[in-house]
Amino acid sequence: MKTETTIQGLAASLQPARTARKIIGFVPTMGNLHQGHLNLVREARKLCDVVVVSIFVNPIQFGPNEDFDNYPRTLDQDSQLLADVGCDIIFAPSVEQMYGKQPRLTNISVSEITNDLCGKQRPGHFDGVAVVVTKLFNIVQPNYAFFGQKDFQQLAVIRQLVRDLNIPLEVIGVPIARAEDGLALSSRNGYLSEDQRKVAPSIFKSLKHAEAELQQGTDLKEVLENIKTTLTTAGLVVDYVEARTPQLHMIDQFNQDIVLFVAAKLGTTRLIDNLQIKHTAA
Ligand code: PAJ
Repeated sequence: MKTETTIQGLAASLQPARTARKIIGFVPTMGNLHQGHLNLVREARKLCDVVVVSIFVNPIQFGPNEDFDNYPRTLDQDSQLLADVGCDIIFAPSVEQMYGKQPRLTNISVSEITNDLCGKQRPGHFDGVAVVVTKLFNIVQPNYAFFGQKDFQQLAVIRQLVRDLNIPLEVIGVPIARAEDGLALSSRNGYLSEDQRKVAPSIFKSLKHAEAELQQGTDLKEVLENIKTTLTTAGLVVDYVEARTPQLHMIDQFNQDIVLFVAAKLGTTRLIDNLQIKHTAA
C-alpha cells in the first residue's frame, strides 16, 4: 500500500493502472476510520482492480461553529486499518494541496434536495461536499465511487451531481454499519461520554419501533411525533425527524417505500441516522 500526499504523486502512482485500463475504485473519507468506512473499501475491493481511499478533513464543508479543528485526525491508525482491508493507495493531501494559495471562485450547488434535512441546520455544507468530491473525482478519475447510506442525503446529492455534470463514473451506495446495540457507526461517536453513549442507541431503537408502528397501520404523522417524544425523553435534543421518499420528496402517508430521517444532539455531538422502510401492498 502506498500513501500519496500530492496530486502529482497520486497521478504517478495511478499511471500504470490507467495505462493497463484497470478498474479504479474510490472511497472518499475524512479519516478516523471505523467498520462503516472499511465496508466501503471492502465493496470497492470486490468490484475494482485498484482501490484508492482519500483521507481529507475538508474545511469548506464545516460551519464556523462546527468541529473542523477538533475533528479526529488519526492517519497512522487509519493506514493500518486500510492495509488490512486491501486498500492500494491512500491519498492524504494537505488543505493547501487541495485548495492552493489562490482564492477559489467556483462553487457547486445542488439545489432542492439540499434545502432541508441536514441542509437547513448546516448552510453551505453540501456545497462544500460537492466541491471537494468533484475535485477528488477529477484528481482520482475512478470508474466507481463508494458512499455510505449513513449519509443518505449526501449520497443523493452526489448521485445528482454526477448525473447533472456527466461525471464519468458510477456511484455505489453501501448500507449503514452499526454497533451491536444498533448505533450507526460514526467518527463523531468518539465525542460521546460514557453516559451519552448509553443513550445514543435510542435513535436506532426509535426508528425500528416506528417501522413496526407503520406496518401495524399507525398514521405517519403520529409515528414521527412518537420518535420525537421518545428521543426528547431519553435526553436528546431533536433537530429533525422526517419522512421522505428515497428520492427525498416530501411524503405525508406511508403508501410507498419511505426513508425515516433523524438528526439529534447529545450534548454538543450531533448524530444522524436513517431507516429505509419497504411498503408492501396489503
Ligand atoms: P466521512 O464522514 O469520513 O464518511 C466517509 C464515507 O463513509 C461516507 O460515504 C459515509 O456515508 C460513509 N460512512 C460513515 N459512517 C458509515 C456507516 N456507519 N455505515 C456506512 N457508511 C458510513 O462523508 C464524508 O466523510 C465527507 O462528507 C466526504 C464525502 C469524504 C467529503 O468530504
